[in-house]
Amino acid sequence: MKFFIDTANIDQIRDAQELGILDGVTTNPSLMAKEGITGKNNILKHYVDICNIVDGDVSAEVIATDLAGMIREGEALADLHEQIVVKVPMIRDGVKALKYFADKGIRTNCTLVFSPGQALLAAKAGATYVSPFIGRLDDVSSDGIHLISEIRLIYDNYGYETEILAASIRHAMHIIDCAKVGADVMTGPLSAIEGLLKHPLTDIGLEKFLADYNKGN
Ligand code: E4P
Repeated sequence: MKFFIDTANIDQIRDAQELGILDGVTTNPSLMAKEGITGKNNILKHYVDICNIVDGDVSAEVIATDLAGMIREGEALADLHEQIVVKVPMIRDGVKALKYFADKGIRTNCTLVFSPGQALLAAKAGATYVSPFIGRLDDVSSDGIHLISEIRLIYDNYGYETEILAASIRHAMHIIDCAKVGADVMTGPLSAIEGLLKHPLTDIGLEKFLADYNKGN
């Protein structure tokens, strides 16, 4: 399973990279705004800064919602750095843009996916990644993890190579559940990744081992 971090915060991206388990980064306009990164040039520079910290894929989102605008923005984003993956919303012109980028060899991440039908369309259009938002589904009492398992079944039935990127992860159990149902990638905050690390019995056990070792020294 690939681990992406879902933030535009440079310190957190560095922390995750230093942990040695990071495969990529996802961002969105809200995450950029949260870090105070506004204005087209600052946002573009921030994408390049992120690419220079991590080794893997970095999703950068188009703002346009019409085909011509998405193509213009997506091509400019892809030209920024070889690690950039163009993030395209699951709307009618977004599907056309996914197909256009696939034909051009530009990698894409289809975002704001909330149903198996949307995921099927994204795969048909040749998306590199599809991003079902599981936390936001859970927020409205739908089952986000179930959506991941439905998409897994559909993609496996037909051998689609689009990678299932479980997004809107909120906590460590989301990561575990996504791993159980076969998501290819998860993207979440550093807190969710660090939640996998902790267990009180590990701390208690280590304390005892060190205390026993020190008895003889
Ligand atoms: C995905 O790429 C999105 O940036 C993200 O996972 C959305 O998460 P949220 O629902 O916590 O905003």
